[in-house]
Amino acid sequence: MAHILVVGSINMDVVLRVAQLPFAGETVRSAEIGYVCGGKGANQAIASARAGARVTMVGAVGHDEMGQTLLSKLSANGIDVSHIEQKQSSTGLAFISVNESGENTIVLHEGANAELSVRDAHLHQAFDSKPDVLIVQNEIPLDVTKAVMQQAHQLGIPVCFNPAPAQDIPKDIFEWVDILIVNQGEASLLSGLTLVQGKDISLAAKHFIDLGVHEVMITLGNKGVFFVNDKGLSRKIDAHRIDVVDSTGAGDTFVGFYVALRAALYPPQHALCYANAAAALSVTRSGAEPSIPSFSEVTTFLSEQQWMNCK
Ligand code: RIB
Ligand code: NA
Repeated sequence: MAHILVVGSINMDVVLRVAQLPFAGETVRSAEIGYVCGGKGANQAIASARAGARVTMVGAVGHDEMGQTLLSKLSANGIDVSHIEQKQSSTGLAFISVNESGENTIVLHEGANAELSVRDAHLHQAFDSKPDVLIVQNEIPLDVTKAVMQQAHQLGIPVCFNPAPAQDIPKDIFEWVDILIVNQGEASLLSGLTLVQGKDISLAAKHFIDLGVHEVMITLGNKGVFFVNDKGLSRKIDAHRIDVVDSTGAGDTFVGFYVALRAALYPPQHALCYANAAAALSVTRSGAEPSIPSFSEVTTFLSEQQWMNCK
């Protein structure tokens, strides 16, 4: 079984369903509220676990009830939580409004996530368990992310970087990145190219390959995913046609499934077809963690879809 180390954020998501997202100065009512496990790190850890990997997570929660709830949720998914620290600040919170078209806005209170530090012993001890792959995102301090990427690189452990939410990143980071998974906004910001209506996607992908990344995926929402690797393989696969309920966590589901299957030695095109299907399924359900499918749900869905994108 492949072993994945995720170093990243853990949040309690407060999900508010609204008819329309509010404008500045506007008040809207929500008839439905949910409290679910979220945070890009935690979501990707859960997605990898549901895809069949053994997962260790490093992160931080507060000394509060929400932190306990989230730790239990991660453990219940078989994730090793022994390197997750409890900090002084409260557990990270994401206030997520979702409209009837499944679009969202997120206000993030980082809380304990922001307290992760390069001096945390757990950060480095987690590598003793000899993970096969490291996954990182952008929801914890960048110096921590950089430190673990560099450590993984030195140990010969492949790194998957999902630089979300978008923020400017020094270019030299990419020499430590093996797998890069970005959406169009992140790809534009990090490549300096304007990706209007799918134009210049392959140029942006090539930009990252030139910086030393081995596999690049640019996710295009309902337009699918563009993949390219440093061996000259490139592919554009379509998104499944589904009823959009809530897209929160779709990117995380994609990342977790893709990396779990690559670590289990699936070829890129097969990992892609599974990750794309898993993300599609997650969009048909509400919330981040609750919407992440199991491997068998993805297999059933793919067979209903005549194994679209898998040949
Ligand atoms: O990617 C989705 C996640 O982003 C949510 O679960 C929320 O916690 C925010 O961090
Ligand atoms: Na969802």
